[in-house]
Amino acid sequence: MFRNGARPDHATGPAAEALRLVKVTKSYGTADSAVTALDGVTLGLAQGTFTAVMGPSGSGKSTLLQCAAGLDRPDSGIVRVDGTELTGGGEAELTKFRRGRIGFVFQQYNLLETLTVAQNTVLPLKLAGRRVDRRRAREILTAVGLGDRLGHRPDQLSGGQRQRVAIARALVTEPRVIFADEPTGALDTRSAREVLTLLQQAVRVHGRTVVMVTHDPVAASYADSVLFLADGRLAGRLDAPTADAVAERLAHLGDSVTAGV
Ligand SMILES: Nc1ncnc2c1ncn2[C@@H]1O[C@H](COP(=O)(O)OP(=O)(O)OP(=O)(O)O)[C@@H](O)[C@H]1O
Ligand SMILES: [Mg+2]
Repeated sequence: MFRNGARPDHATGPAAEALRLVKVTKSYGTADSAVTALDGVTLGLAQGTFTAVMGPSGSGKSTLLQCAAGLDRPDSGIVRVDGTELTGGGEAELTKFRRGRIGFVFQQYNLLETLTVAQNTVLPLKLAGRRVDRRRAREILTAVGLGDRLGHRPDQLSGGQRQRVAIARALVTEPRVIFADEPTGALDTRSAREVLTLLQQAVRVHGRTVVMVTHDPVAASYADSVLFLADGRLAGRLDAPTADAVAERLAHLGDSVTAGV
């Protein structure tokens, strides 16, 4: 059942949880060719935190994000976002919840090429049936440094600018949780830094919760903590990460697959 925790006890106070996964599993394919992408992942993230997710290619990072964001369904286990259980509900309810409370940023931007920057940015409001406030679009695009590009189309923008539009689009509904899957993967160092700073500000200034997959230890160092995945399982956690400490941990990830979370 899709339980809407109108006043969940844990949604108040400083340690309120933005995301909770309990024994989440996900496999792809059928019997003889089945791949276990997530193998019983349990974790909790407090509101107002910035978490990076790292691990080898194929370790389940994107699957974890897709399941946590309600873009995909786990085979078993529970996913709770902002006190509301996503798992087990109907498709329409899930879509509605996702549009209202979750933002998603993809590596390849996923902007609609036929829409302007402003139109792309307010699209989630339209889809959610909410009032489309032009001033809000201008405000939020100004905040990401694109206040003078409202009428441009995505193909008139650089990769870094496109990703900033995608971030504006993810922020426009004022979601509780923003998921970003390798948001800096296609960007040069400077554009990556701008994007990471925007995500960090969403957390520090606006109290949002950000969960970001990355392969880059420097990108991970912008987060408050790093979760490591290996073979679909949690394989450790690092708080207050420095790029060097992250790189060191990544190098030894295969040594022990005991979850330290
Ligand atoms: N749609 C799918 N169909 C079949 N197998 C899939 C599908 N999506 C993912 N997988 C498999 O699940 C496992 C986890 O994939 P996932 O995309 O979550 O890894 P990842 O950690 O994000 O990797 P990368 O760093 O390369 O993006 C992999 O073995 C992958 O091949
Ligand atoms: Mg991936």
